[in-house]
Amino acid sequence: MKFTTVSTPLHRIKTDMLVIPIFRGEKIKGGPFRRFDDEIGGVISEAIASEGFTGKARESFVIFAPPGAKARRVVLAGLGKKKELSAEKIRMAAGAAGKAVSPGKDRNMALAARRFPELEPFDCARAFAEGLGLSTYKFLEHKTSNNKKPPLKNLTLVVEDKSAAANWRSGAEEGWIFVEATNYARDLCNHPSNVVTPTTLARKAREIAAKYRLKCSILSEADAKRLGMGAFLSVAKGSDEPAKFITLEYAPRGARQTVVLVGKGITFDSGGISLKPGAGMEAMKTDMAGAAAALASILGAARLKVDKRVIMLIAAAENMPGGHATKPGDIVKSMGGKTIEVINTEAEGRLVLIDALKYAERYQPDAVLDFATLTGACGVALGPYYSGLLGNNQKLIDTVKKAAEKAGDNLWQLPLSDDYRELMKSDVADLKNTSGARAGGTITAAAFLSEFTGKYAWAHIDIAPTAFIEKPWPYIGKGATGVPVRTVLNFLKYYEPPKRARART
Ligand code: BES
Ligand code: MN
Ligand code: ZN
Repeated sequence: MKFTTVSTPLHRIKTDMLVIPIFRGEKIKGGPFRRFDDEIGGVISEAIASEGFTGKARESFVIFAPPGAKARRVVLAGLGKKKELSAEKIRMAAGAAGKAVSPGKDRNMALAARRFPELEPFDCARAFAEGLGLSTYKFLEHKTSNNKKPPLKNLTLVVEDKSAAANWRSGAEEGWIFVEATNYARDLCNHPSNVVTPTTLARKAREIAAKYRLKCSILSEADAKRLGMGAFLSVAKGSDEPAKFITLEYAPRGARQTVVLVGKGITFDSGGISLKPGAGMEAMKTDMAGAAAALASILGAARLKVDKRVIMLIAAAENMPGGHATKPGDIVKSMGGKTIEVINTEAEGRLVLIDALKYAERYQPDAVLDFATLTGACGVALGPYYSGLLGNNQKLIDTVKKAAEKAGDNLWQLPLSDDYRELMKSDVADLKNTSGARAGGTITAAAFLSEFTGKYAWAHIDIAPTAFIEKPWPYIGKGATGVPVRTVLNFLKYYEPPKRARART
């Protein structure tokens, strides 16, 4: 996408779509669009007066070829109430405009980049780019027809105040990096499991490493065995697809902090011997959404040139009920030496994650963030709009929350305490992989993970409810969402892990 800024009067802007953001109940007479409205025969006032456009958030209204305008279409996009303006409302307005884009037909868009006293031009531009790029995303790679329509190519920012032009442009450019990283994760997650296998994830990591000059290592099952990753390997045993433990490292000169990103990379979760019911099982191709987010985040971090060292770890495997599969009751040994009784082979995500959380120690990280489609219980608790957030360090959790808020991602903290850890003790091994009760499933899963985290500050994001959605969000359509890539990028770019961050114990 190419971003340019101009200061031409709006009626002289030649484009496929000219987007005019308007507040709820805004009067055109006396406002910033008064002259434009006059030049095009009062069609904006008319749309408000008699066509029912109110300017509420998510609303849009398309005017085709208004006389006096050079734009092929003028799109009014609702910003909601003036007092409630936020970056998120701008993303929604961009999302509403994005929905009016006809792929193939619309190559050029222009935005009336109006000035808001309460928001910086950089942030407005970033938010608009995000809403636009996320809302126009489509996954058509497996459609044999109609999949080659060229996308939007140019966004012209029409700024009144020339001194703000550079900020508008750089904000949009940064937003677009967020978009491309997020959509990269969405693509990986939308692909079926016969396309994206652990080997595919490893290949993607190598591609990213080559493109952005990152260090990459791919551990085979034999390597993982030598390292003692018995929990990770126990999940892969029932499948013919070889498991891969994937690491990427971005190490900018002078970096003073290290953040490790860990992704759950189950490329298909059949449940294993504790087989899942058939209905809806196809959705388990998305059980590598955490891994996709981790890959996309380090890619985005490299493009944003963040100042922290970032390490990405993916434990990638397929969970299948083959003849060699781990069986309920089997006891496996994790990398640190702790033994686990596998009560339920469905609870495989935590098994692959704990060996990665252990492996993370070698980097002496200031913070470790993990992303995992870990528990159905998370959606029971929060519904389809929030991811769960847990961890061992409240300062880190608070920082992740701030980064999420900046991104417009919804994270909700759930409690974690020794009481829950108690529920994960086994009669015959050190721990068991499920509590045996459904109650508090997201918390008991995190409690299990917390037995394997090192002395570092750790935050766990359960994206089971949000990674793949059936009902569209305001600027993200159904399918894979790329959550929580934008939160992670904000965290890496704008926030710091807490000083002397250590686990509570
Ligand atoms: N991948 C699933 C969790 C999941 C469910 C992700 C729905 C996305 C949508 C996970 O591996 C799993 O099967 N978890 C079990 C744990 C249980 C056996 C303790 C679950 O949530 O039922
Ligand atoms: Mn499972
Ligand atoms: Zn799973």
